[in-house]
This record gives sequence, structure tokens and C-alpha cells, in this order.
Amino acid sequence: MTNILVTGGAGYIGSHACKALAAAGFTPVTFDNLVTGWQDAVKFGPFEQGDLLDRARLDEVFAKYQPAAVMHFAALSQVGEAMSQPGRYWSNNVTGSLNLIEAAVAAGCLDFVFSSTCATYGEHDNVVLDEDTPQLPLNAYGASKRAIEDILVDFEAAHGLRHVIFRYFNVAGADPEGEVGEFHRPETHLVPLMLDAIDGKRDALTVFGTDYDTPDGTCIRDYVHVCDLVDAHVLGLNWLREGKGSKVFNLGTGSGFSVREVIDHSKSVTNREVPYEIGPRRAGDCTKLVSGSVRALQELGWKPERSKLDQMIADAWRWHQNGHYEK
Ligand SMILES: NC(=O)c1ccc[n+]([C@@H]2O[C@H](COP(=O)([O-])OP(=O)(O)OC[C@H]3O[C@@H](n4cnc5c(N)ncnc54)[C@H](O)[C@@H]3O)[C@@H](O)[C@H]2O)c1
Repeated sequence: MTNILVTGGAGYIGSHACKALAAAGFTPVTFDNLVTGWQDAVKFGPFEQGDLLDRARLDEVFAKYQPAAVMHFAALSQVGEAMSQPGRYWSNNVTGSLNLIEAAVAAGCLDFVFSSTCATYGEHDNVVLDEDTPQLPLNAYGASKRAIEDILVDFEAAHGLRHVIFRYFNVAGADPEGEVGEFHRPETHLVPLMLDAIDGKRDALTVFGTDYDTPDGTCIRDYVHVCDLVDAHVLGLNWLREGKGSKVFNLGTGSGFSVREVIDHSKSVTNREVPYEIGPRRAGDCTKLVSGSVRALQELGWKPERSKLDQMIADAWRWHQNGHYEK
């Protein structure tokens, strides 16, 4: 079996990626320090606890498993926290990724798939965003991801590290078989926050800002199902293993939904009221982030089949009612 080192494999997206990798015949080796992840979510391959900031531990894991490639999901990713603690984000995300990239090169593991984000684009006046849109991040989270993209480009030039960079839009939904799902503590993502409010696990959802320049005044985002997203990662891995060159792909559907629209869809999918209140704008939030790209569809052959908003909410709702993890 071919080992793939999955950093952040105990987290939301990484755990779904491990399931998809195992289904595709790979052995996913999770490397995670559990800062926001859950050991319970590691179900599809070995678990190695460790921190990206610990280079010796990384070298040990590369030597033990000799992975054919790295899928790098591990990061801190809360925009609000990044605004108030930028040093933590630069250290964990950038220094941690640099350690990982250097360890991969030292081990001769030269295929690298990286989780980036549409937050690297920043604000662009209501245009849809493609991979050539200038990257002007509004917060330290987006800036840290853009910096890691730059490191990958330099390491390809110097050391032949081939990479696929995926810039995700908003990831939602859960494994339809209920083995893994989204369980962030604290939670900051709209869909699970809304489900918590519907279910009485929090008082009300706060809608941050209703005075944006959008038809209903709330922010617009492009939602992609986590299972579709991780399928693209397996395609990206195979792309590299077939010797195709380094490439950047947006992963979004091209359809934007406002916060109010997501609330309306959640109400109809769950058949419950969504308690919400209006709050002020949140620092670091962009008005609209929607992918304008078909590159992943045309070049990778990606088919995002579950990314209808109602389907994502229904899968998340099923997980929300039945699933959770313990440390
Ligand atoms: N969820 C989204 O909508 C979204 C959107 C765009 C990009 N992303 C990116 O996708 C990736 C995964 O996001 P997620 O929602 O699954 O987050 P998550 O918090 O659920 O998972 C991140 C995992 O990385 C681990 N980790 C963090 N720092 C580490 C370190 N120094 N050493 C070892 N492990 C460490 C955490 O314990 C956790 O298990 C992140 O890189 C994130 O920036 C997510």
C-alpha cells in the first residue's frame, strides 16, 4: 500500500480526506497535534501525534512511513483569532509548514497537496474570483496561507517539490455515512453554528452585518461539500503522481449564497425555525467570495456532485444529530 502523510487528518476536512484516500487504495497516515482535531476522527489509517513545529518528530514520521506524498491540511484557521493573535498564525501556519516542506524535501517526498483558501484573495468588488485574481488577503490567516503558497513555488524551483494548491471556498456538509463530520470547538462556521441554534445548543445565531453591498445586505459565500472537496484532493494527488506539473485550483461551485439565504434553506431542510440576531460586521470579513473558475472541472475532471446547498445542510444536519467526538 502507498502511504500518504495527511497533516491535520484528525480535523474536519483531513478526516474526510483520509476516508477518500483509503477508498482510493492509499494508506492515510495522520500527523496531528490535536489542537483542534479529535483522535476519534482518525479511523482510516495510522495516527502519529506530533506538532508541525517539531522538526525532529516530522523527520521520524517520514522515516517510519516513507510516504509517497503529503496532503497538508494542518493549520489554525479562525479569521477572528488570526486578527487578534497574528503571531500564532504566522508561527503555526507558516513556520510549521516550512518545517513540513523542508522535512518532505529531505526525505525525498516531492509530491505535495496543499489546503489554501479563497481568503487569500481578499476584497474584489463583487467580481467572481479565478486563480489569476490578485491575492490581497485581509487578515493574517489568509496572509499566512498566501505565504505558504510562495514557499511552495520557491521549493519547486530549488528542490523540485511538485505541488497542487487548492484554494477552498466555504466547506460544509459531512460524510453521508456518518463516520466523520464537522466538530469544531469553538465553532465558527455558519452551517454548524446555525444547526446548533436550531437545536437549542446555543441561544441564537449572530448574523455579522446586514449592510454589505449585496441584495439582502448579508455576506455572500460559495459553499462546497466536504466530500466533493476531498475527491478533488485524490484527483490532485493522482495528477502529481502522473507527473503533471504544479498547479493551483479553486474549489468552489460558482454559486454564491447570502447568510440570509442559508438561513432560509436551513429552515426548509430541517423544518425548524432558525433563531438568529443581527450583530455588527466582523473585522476581516469580505463582502463576497465566489469562485469564478472551471479549471478544476475541466483539467482535473472534478465532478462536485453533492454540493447543492440543501444536500450539504441535510448531510450536516444528520451528522449534527448523531455525531460527535471525544478527545
Ligand atoms: N473549513 C473550511 O471551510 C476551510 C476553508 C478554506 C480552507 N480551509 C483549510 O483547510 C484545512 C483544514 O480545515 P478544517 O476545517 O478541517 O480545520 P480543523 O481545525 O478541523 O483541522 C485542522 C487540523 O490541523 C491540526 N493542527 C493544527 N495545527 C497543527 C500543528 N502545528 N501540528 C499538527 N497538527 C496541527 C488540528 O489539530 C486539526 O486536527 C486548514 O488548512 C484550513 O485553513 C478550510
